[in-house]
Amino acid sequence: MSKTILITGGAGFIGSHVVRRFVNQYPNYRIINLDALTYAGNLENLKDIENKDNYKFVKGDITDAQFIDELFEKYQFDGVVHLAAESHVDRSIKDPLAFAKTNILGTMTLLNAAKELWSDDYNDKRFYHISTDEVYGTLGETGLFTEETAYDPNSPYSASKASSDHFVRAYGETYGLPYVISNCSNNYGPNHFPEKLIPLFIHNIINENPLPVYGDGKYTRDWLYVIDHARAIDLIFHEGKNAETYNIGGFNEWQNIDLVKELCRQMDDKLNREPGTSEKLITYVKDRPGHDLRYAIDATKINQELGWSPSVTFEEGLAETIDWYLNNPAWLKHVTSGDYQNYYKEQYQD
Ligand code: NAD
Ligand code: TYD
Repeated sequence: MSKTILITGGAGFIGSHVVRRFVNQYPNYRIINLDALTYAGNLENLKDIENKDNYKFVKGDITDAQFIDELFEKYQFDGVVHLAAESHVDRSIKDPLAFAKTNILGTMTLLNAAKELWSDDYNDKRFYHISTDEVYGTLGETGLFTEETAYDPNSPYSASKASSDHFVRAYGETYGLPYVISNCSNNYGPNHFPEKLIPLFIHNIINENPLPVYGDGKYTRDWLYVIDHARAIDLIFHEGKNAETYNIGGFNEWQNIDLVKELCRQMDDKLNREPGTSEKLITYVKDRPGHDLRYAIDATKINQELGWSPSVTFEEGLAETIDWYLNNPAWLKHVTSGDYQNYYKEQYQD
């Protein structure tokens, strides 16, 4: 094995696509997937690669310093691709401290372990921190987030991610730790936990349940297919410059209500329902506190410097995503049983 790479959060939505890509693309790398298997982590996401020789899963918590130090000592990692996080804005509004713990303290615990292991020789080492465009706060009707946009986070989730980004840069400046950061727009695709807009609404349309649109539905997000994010992460890990930030986005802005109507249209078609059936499920509900109006990424830098651009159109990606959920009812059933029912009740019915 030429390198040993730690991927954190690899049982989650984006992490599982990143693990799959690295395991398949780099048979000479040993990939260690570290994940605490919270409600969002699911090893079913990785069934197809779990027996590969260059892959190993380790269950553990990134905030457990002793465990993390021992893990770094044992595996002598050459690189870290850090995705483990609490990732849902609505949950961060209910329990901000959990976000501070995992996203800030967990990232610092990993940074410390990497610094300790690598400080004698930083050559060929890399700490890659995966972050979000939400650290930039909200846009008005116009403009795009660039890598120079000042941080201005509004939710406990985005504040915790912004803080973790700052700590990564601080370890670079203060200790010379070689790092790279990327800030990506909203992802969608297979294996997405049905608490976020697209998978939640797919699940509800299948079950003919209400589609809870927050506020007036005029909020705007920039959607990227998760497999294109995983391609970008691979590229940045291997070819990105140290101490740089790369914004990743799909140049694909949708107002929530337009996106929901498009989803309804495609799903009526696939489920052989009368056109207009699913739109009747749309229900306007109480707005999210501190709801950011608009996110949109300027992905010029990664395009010009690393040659990345999205490989699928939104229409293709959304169709593949819907098909995946329709073809994997067991996955959906499993993740929506148990605790999910309590979460849903508290978030939408109280
Ligand atoms: P996710 O919630 O689906 O997965 C997070 C994973 O981290 C889960 O497998 C969970 O078990 C694991 N985890 C949580 N706490 C942990 C801990 N203390 N120790 C070890 N593992 C822990 O999240 P996601 O949507 O796949 O996001 C992955 C990363 O990408 C996050 O850092 C997120 O901020 C970032 N990001 C997400 C999006 C998006 O649209 N989903 C966009 C940009 C950036
Ligand atoms: P979400 O998928 O939670 O991602 P984020 O808040 O990180 O952008 O939400 C995407 C958009 O959809 C956001 O404007 C909030 C909105 N939304 C709803 O209208 N209803 C819902 O039930 C959810 C989960 C989100």
